[in-house]
Amino acid sequence: MGAAAIELTDVRKVYRKNRIEIPVLEGLDLRIESGTFVVLMGPSGSGKSTLLHLIGGLDQPTSGRVRVGDYHLEEMTERELTTWRSRHVGFIFQMYHLVPVLTAAQNVELPLLLFRMSAAERRERVRTALSVVGLEDRMDHRPNQLSGGQEQRVAIARAIVTDPEVILADEPTGDLDAQTSEGILNLLNLLNTDFGKTILMVTHDPKAAAHGQRTLHLDKGVLERDTMHAPRAAAAASVN
Ligand SMILES: Nc1ncnc2c1ncn2[C@@H]1O[C@H](COP(=O)(O)OP(=O)(O)OP(=O)(O)O)[C@@H](O)[C@H]1O
Ligand SMILES: [Mg+2]
Repeated sequence: MGAAAIELTDVRKVYRKNRIEIPVLEGLDLRIESGTFVVLMGPSGSGKSTLLHLIGGLDQPTSGRVRVGDYHLEEMTERELTTWRSRHVGFIFQMYHLVPVLTAAQNVELPLLLFRMSAAERRERVRTALSVVGLEDRMDHRPNQLSGGQEQRVAIARAIVTDPEVILADEPTGDLDAQTSEGILNLLNLLNTDFGKTILMVTHDPKAAAHGQRTLHLDKGVLERDTMHAPRAAAAASVN
């Protein structure tokens, strides 16, 4: 077996609030192979978002190790994590978190401003990312001029514009109707199959979960079940 893209070893996460300890993850071990689309399910409060935040370097474990690619996140400073994150992971959230006063193109461009890159190259990258999500013709629209599904596509373009190896999606279809969700999920399938992205997606929806190749079930801080799926038929031809 090749090196896993993501490896967690004996990860514990305890939040402290008003001197009360809230144990969330309790000695979690997990390997995710490069290029797989993994789904994370579990009851509300079971620690799914927490786990995503640890893998994306938005937070650090109380103890244990988190490796993503060649990087051991528990050894990195906040500053190193910020730089690492901007290059290696793309985040997609339920609420799209677009900047309302910026156009679609300007929103997608934001992560690139941390890079040393010419304006021409930035423009080219933004155009490519927006064409992958099928929104080349909405470059100059602001978020309030887009549908929810289109806003999520812009958020996905923003997540992939730096060409990260890993995409972390926290209930990306939680706010969308069934048909629009299907389009977004097919788009994630495309990023996985055609662009080789390793994807970890949180969802409560079994239909959405069927888009992945493996489903993890988190409950009370431990991984309860780990199910492999039969390979899914190629993502539907249409991602719109
Ligand atoms: N910053 C924080 N400080 C204190 N407690 C926190 C913090 N973040 C999360 N928690 C607690 O950790 C537990 C796990 O939260 P988390 O957001 O990871 O759950 P989740 O599985 O994503 O739930 P949901 O399905 O509702 O999104 C919850 O009990 C929550 O209250
Ligand atoms: Mg959550």
